[in-house]
Amino acid sequence: MTDFNIGIPTQIAFGSGSLSRFASVCEEHAWNKALVIASASMSQRDFAAAFLDRLPLEVQIWTNVESNPRVGTVDACVAEYRAQGIDVVIGIGGGSAMDQAKATAVGLRAGPSVTSLMRGEAPMPTTKAPLALVPTTSGTGSEASWGAILTDCERGEKGGLRGRVVSADYAFVDPSCTIDLPESITMTTGFDVLTHALETFLSKKRSPYTTMLSRRSMQSVFRYLPVLKSSPRDLGARTEMAFASTLAGINLALSSTCLPHRLQYPLGALTDTPHAEGLAALYPSWLASTLPYATADLAECARWIGGTASSDRELADWFVEQVGALIGSIGMLRRLSDFGIDEATAEKLVSQVSGALDNDPGDASPEALRRIYLQSV
Ligand SMILES: [Fe+2]
Repeated sequence: MTDFNIGIPTQIAFGSGSLSRFASVCEEHAWNKALVIASASMSQRDFAAAFLDRLPLEVQIWTNVESNPRVGTVDACVAEYRAQGIDVVIGIGGGSAMDQAKATAVGLRAGPSVTSLMRGEAPMPTTKAPLALVPTTSGTGSEASWGAILTDCERGEKGGLRGRVVSADYAFVDPSCTIDLPESITMTTGFDVLTHALETFLSKKRSPYTTMLSRRSMQSVFRYLPVLKSSPRDLGARTEMAFASTLAGINLALSSTCLPHRLQYPLGALTDTPHAEGLAALYPSWLASTLPYATADLAECARWIGGTASSDRELADWFVEQVGALIGSIGMLRRLSDFGIDEATAEKLVSQVSGALDNDPGDASPEALRRIYLQSV
């Protein structure tokens, strides 16, 4: 067994009602002033309004939360609040709000702008403002991961800030915050959890620890995401999905994702489409491309969710079918053409793919990327 790390720098309070513990954390640190990053509609939801009302400190709210957060917006927020003595940044929402909060916490304590950090024009700082995250989707796992995905509109690039400093000090994963989530967001974010569980398992950086988390996370998604399709207010199923999301988020920090996430970023920057919808469009082609390289691992995934075929190849084929069936059953069948991407545009995306491509178990050559994009149109 090779060496690996266990754990993350974030203290995670999990469970319905866990959000109520935040007030005592504020008192423990003697924080006086909070900057909350949450959309206007989010900050007015009953649980959020009650949470903010009860906080024992002065609260400023930044409501300009974008579905694909722009680095220029983060810098505008930092400029407005840098001199205001913010003790803690609180992000409430899905991955976008949480990533914006992470980048803001870094920016408030950094000399250079977040834009220059993202472009690699200045070194990442080693400290940030204290940060607490409250996920309201299950989800991106951003509450446990080390990074903030941002779009640089001037350059037309999607990238972000990465590293241990880009992580929350506290996360309050309270499944009751997700109970009113619309079906479409429940399904798209739930599919994102599956991609994190699967890709962090297939990743060359996986460990026995991350494999254990992938297994539990994947089992929950296959079992409970369809339950939420028919019973959206099932708190037990919401709790399982919140747990699955956070486990997969821990894996994002320790193991990292594979090609679909690398391929989705230029797609998201170009089309401004939800992250998981791009992944759903790319998945069938990526899985077909990866299966010959990861047959035994995909067979293992099949066993985790109850597959019983006799050979690894049959099990792997069955698992790929199950992923396709899940995508269909939760209403997420997508093609790149649904986002206005034609073959010529798909070809151009290949040169914009960046990141650790060698983490993938399969063929990550430019020709393979081109094939996956074209087969997904
Ligand atoms: Fe993702």
